[in-house]
Order: sequence, then C-alpha cells, then structure tokens
Amino acid sequence: MENKTFYITTPIYYPSDKLHIGHTYCTVATDAMARYKRLTGHEVMFLTGTDEHGQKIENKAAEAGVTPQAFVDNIVEGEKGVKDLWKLMNVSYDRFIRTTDDYHVTSVQRIFKKMYEKGDIYKSIYKGKYCVPCESFWTETQLKDGCCPDCGRPVIDAEEEAYYFRLSAYADRVRDLLENTDFLLPRSRVNEMVHNFIEPGLEDLCVSRTSFKWGVPVDFDDKHVVYVWIDALTNYITALGYENEKYPESDYNKFWPADVHFVGKEIVRFHSIIWPAILMSLELPLPKHVYGHGWLLLDGGKMSKSKGNVVDPYLLAERYSADALRYFLLRDFPFGSDGNFSNELLINRINTDLANDIGNLLSRTTAMADKYFGGNLPEEQAEGAEDAELLAMAGALRDKYEAQMEKYAFQSALADVFAVIARANKYIDETAPWALAKNEETKPRLARVLYNLAETLRICTVLLTPFMPTACEKIFDQLRIPSSLRTWESAASFGLMSKTAELHKGENLFPRIDAAKELAELDAIQEAKKAAAAPAPAPKEEKKTEAPAPVEITDHEEEISFDDFCKVEMRVCKIVNCEAIKESKKLLKITAFDGERERCIMSGIAKWYKPDDLMGKNVGVVVNLAARPMMGGKYVSEGMIVAADTADGDASIAFYPDSTVGKRIH
Ligand code: MSP
Repeated sequence: MENKTFYITTPIYYPSDKLHIGHTYCTVATDAMARYKRLTGHEVMFLTGTDEHGQKIENKAAEAGVTPQAFVDNIVEGEKGVKDLWKLMNVSYDRFIRTTDDYHVTSVQRIFKKMYEKGDIYKSIYKGKYCVPCESFWTETQLKDGCCPDCGRPVIDAEEEAYYFRLSAYADRVRDLLENTDFLLPRSRVNEMVHNFIEPGLEDLCVSRTSFKWGVPVDFDDKHVVYVWIDALTNYITALGYENEKYPESDYNKFWPADVHFVGKEIVRFHSIIWPAILMSLELPLPKHVYGHGWLLLDGGKMSKSKGNVVDPYLLAERYSADALRYFLLRDFPFGSDGNFSNELLINRINTDLANDIGNLLSRTTAMADKYFGGNLPEEQAEGAEDAELLAMAGALRDKYEAQMEKYAFQSALADVFAVIARANKYIDETAPWALAKNEETKPRLARVLYNLAETLRICTVLLTPFMPTACEKIFDQLRIPSSLRTWESAASFGLMSKTAELHKGENLFPRIDAAKELAELDAIQEAKKAAAAPAPAPKEEKKTEAPAPVEITDHEEEISFDDFCKVEMRVCKIVNCEAIKESKKLLKITAFDGERERCIMSGIAKWYKPDDLMGKNVGVVVNLAARPMMGGKYVSEGMIVAADTADGDASIAFYPDSTVGKRIH
C-alpha cells in the first residue's frame, strides 16, 4: 500500500479550569477525523495537549495557594483532569504535548533565538494599561469598566521593554495565502480575516513580557518570558521533534506540514495569520489547512464558569456513554457554524437515531435471525423486488460518506449513513419478515431479507466506527463479522459476508431514555451548579446575645481539638438519584451532587426513608471521608449523610434550600 500519512491537531487547551463540552466537541471531531484516516489506510499522527504558561495560570495558581506547575499538573494529570476526560471520551491521540515539557521549552528558546538572529524579532517598548497592585499589564479590551479585571482597581498607562515579531513584513504573503489558496477553511472565514485584520494593516506582535514569570524564559535576556503565541503555536512542530532531541528528525520529516489544524473560530486569527508568518520567518512549509469550527452555545451565548452554565462532558458521557455523546456532537451541529447545545437535543438524538433507528435495526435483525433460524442463515436464499433500492443505497454509501468526510462535513456524512439505516428499517416493513416466517416456502426469501439487513448494518457500522468506536465493535460482534469485513475496502461492496452468516441478539446497545425524567434530573444538577457558582448571600447582621453557657463535655464525648474539627468537611449536596439495592435492606444507594461532581453514597437509612422521600432534597454530607468499598467492592461509598438520632430511635435528616448546594457546613 502507498505510504500515506496524515497529521491532525487540536488546539492546545488552557488548563486554567476543567474542560467543558466545547473543548470536548473540538477534540471529538479531531478524533473522528483521525480514526477515519486510519480506517482509510493512513499513518496518522494525532496531536493534542495543553497550553500551560501565562499570567492567567500564574494568577489562578496564586489564588489556589499552589505553584503554577502544581496547579496545571492537577488539571492535566489529576483525577477527572484533561487526560482522564480524553480517556473517558475514547480519544485516540498519538501524542500529548504540554508546553511545560522540557523539550518544548528548549525548542521555543531555540526558535525565538533563530527569529531574533534573523532580525524578525526585535526589542522595543510595550505600552499598555497596568494594574500596580496586581503587577499586571492589560489591553483595553481586557479591562472591566475601565479597571483591572482581576481586582477591579484603576489602571495606569505604563510601558515595559518587550520583544516584537515583525509580523507586518509578512502581510502580503499571508494575504495571498488566505485569498488565493484553500489554506483557511471554511471559505467563509477568509473574508473575516482579510477585512478585520489584514486590510487595516498588520501590526508587529508583542512576543515577550517582563511583568510575569510563568513562561519560557528568553535565554539570551532572561528577565523576559516568551509571550503566549510563539510558545503555543510552535507546539505543532516541537511535538514532532523540531529543534529538540525528544523525537527523531524523521518524525518531523514524515508528518510536517500538518494536513489540518482544527481550531475554534476565535483563534482562527492566530492560526491563519500569525502561525503562517512564524513559519515563513523560520522558512518552513505551511500547514495544508486550518479549519475554523463554530462554537457550541448555551441559550444562544457562550458558556462560562462564572455564569455556572458550563456543560460538563463527564456527567453526560458517564450517564449516556461516550459514544452517544460523540455521535450527538458531530451529528447535530454543522462543524463550520455555531450550534445551540441543549440536553433535550442530546436526549432526542439518542432516542431517535441510536435507540430507534440503528438500535432497533440491529435488535430486530438479530432477534429474527435467532428466532427463525437459530442464528444461522441458511444457504438457500431468494432475492425479491424490494432488494434493489436498499442494495443500491448501501453499495453507494461509502463513496458518498468519503466525499463528506474529506470536507470535514461530519454532520452530512452521518446523515448519509442514517438515511441508509432508515431505508433498511423501511425495508423490514415492506418485506414483513414475520409473515414470511409463517410459511416454509417463503423461508428462503426470509433468509435473504435478513442477510441484506445484516450486510447493510455491516457497511454502516464500518463507517460509524470513527464516531462510535466502542458501540461499533459490539455491533460487529453481534453480527459475527470477521475482521477482514470490518475494513474500509470491504465497505465499498455489498454482499461480501458469507450467505450462511451467523448472527445473534446481544445486549441492547442504546437503551431508550425516559426524556422527561432525565431532563428533570439534569435540570436539578444544573440548578445546583448555578447555586454553587453564585456568590454567597451577604451574612445577616448577627444579633448580639449573651454568651452561651459553656457546654459541659460528658464522659462519652471524647474531646477533639478545633484543628481536628476543621479537618471534617461537610457540604450541602443535592440528591439527584436514590434507589434501594437488592443486596441490602438497610442501605440506599444515593447519587449526590456536591457542587462540583456527583458522588455515590451508600447510606444506612432505608429503614426510615424511602427513595422518593429523598429525591431532589439537599442534605448535609461529610465529603472527605476516605472512599469505602461496600458489598464486596460492588459499590464505593464516597460520603456520609448527616442525620440526627431522634429520641424514639428514628433517624431524621435536615433538608437545606437549593441556594446552599455545594456550600460548606461549619
Ligand atoms: N490555548 C489556546 C489555543 C492555543 S492553540 C496553539 C486556547 N485555549 S482554550 O482552552 O481557550 O480553547 C481551546 C479551544 O476550545 C478553542 O479552539 C476554542 O474555540 C474551543 N472552545 C472553547 N469553548 C468552546 C465552545 N463553547 N464551543 C466550541 N469550541 C470552543 O484558545
């Protein structure tokens, strides 16, 4: 086979907060493309990573009272961090770069020096708005009501020495690249770049700072750190070993220039103007394409942590499966434009396409094969008039799909596959297999109908693999498809499976979701998150009362120090699910949202409370008890509900208002 390579990248994400569904969207799209290219026989390099330097991270780490390195380590490598999220979402990246990796730092220093020695980087004066107490420079647009966005205090005009990149020198070449090639996709983004940035005149770009320390030091002038974009953009070549010894030069030679950088629309400017100019300065080849995708919006606006309206991909993937979430993201929203996210859309899409269309097709086909032929189709089969259209559609599907995938039109590629699935479901209605089964004479026709359905499913499943890798494996297994027929080549032809195919009904891959119930639960979780994100109400003025009489410590209460008491962390948590378990009469299995995440709590209160009594209630929970495996490890309890023993031997739980969810109880 011809040695085809494909190099694809995501942006490197800022690990200043946990990633949300928007970041997941871009990564999942990149993953689908990478998997598709592997399927079509390419040697793929799929790069993702994190952009870890800069003032914002430095400030956030200071707020958290940890070093910047410890702060980013936790968000990237820690529990439910960036890497955990990509694992959960089944993201098949080949390399993960962190801009704090030593080899990247070395490369950035060498690149900076190269550009400086060439005369493309020069020293000048940076003028901006400066917040003296925060020691931070801000641009006009970053200011909040004319004041420092961090502390709200007034800023002053100030200057500092800085290095600049001679971006202006590359304006004509960049303009030519944008206007006269298909470098930037979709085409609609080109005008925006030319009108907004090139036509007004490209200014040189400030590429170093002395006002903060958390960055790559300029090695020949170490009071400066390299400012953001040279550090960030060059990750795409340093991860291939450019100007470092971590990876062999052959990686760079094999994969550079990149086939495509997937980036969100707000960073198209950096990727389509600054990045090509840096590469021109370094005299390196340019990436073949930059694709600027749209945003996922919530209620028509951007998601933001402070509004408490970021959508948590962990929650959704754990509830509905990574495959379902991946499919939804790429099926519902056209990649090049913005789309409005909602839980309702997600659940509808799962119920219609996955549970109804493909789920039903699979379970009907395998169940009928089991029921009528014991799972083994007979040799004797009879064609029929209904076959032609289905066979033609399924046989032509791969090429149609390929044309869409090559344009990064995931939505259309998936629509094409699901049109064939819908056609196959209609084919069941037309051929009425249950009627054919009634009569021995029509059994050969029945066998062919089931064979055609299985073949259609096989072809569709090959093409869905990049989007839903885990579920597709399971479909192949239920249909007993040999690996030679799970390939791209095999998806081009109908009828490759042996006529005496064996297929058996297996687990239901996409169970139907009770939409009303799920939406109510997701809303409750969202409300709790909003309440947790909202600032705490101002404390009421305390009434002056007489000092309480000291409490006598009775002999059964062991005295503990105040410090010991402070170690116990109790928080108000919202119960989002509560169920009895068959293994125990005493315990209830509770899922409680603690303001940040859901935790499982096994609570011995089944005698006093029924699940319905607790659903949706906000209760006090000790959240920092060591997690405890129960029932032989089947469940792990991650907290204890606080309940009072009443005089008559009952237990009583205090309920708190919604506004307290996630708040600490002292
Ligand atoms: N660190 C820079 C990128 C440097 S690349 C050399 C950065 N990081 S980011 O974490 O803020 O954003 C990373 C990507 O996530 C961007 O492409 C951005 O568009 C994408 N998304 C963030 N929120 C998004 C949505 N709500 N919807 C879709 N994508 C969005 O920028």
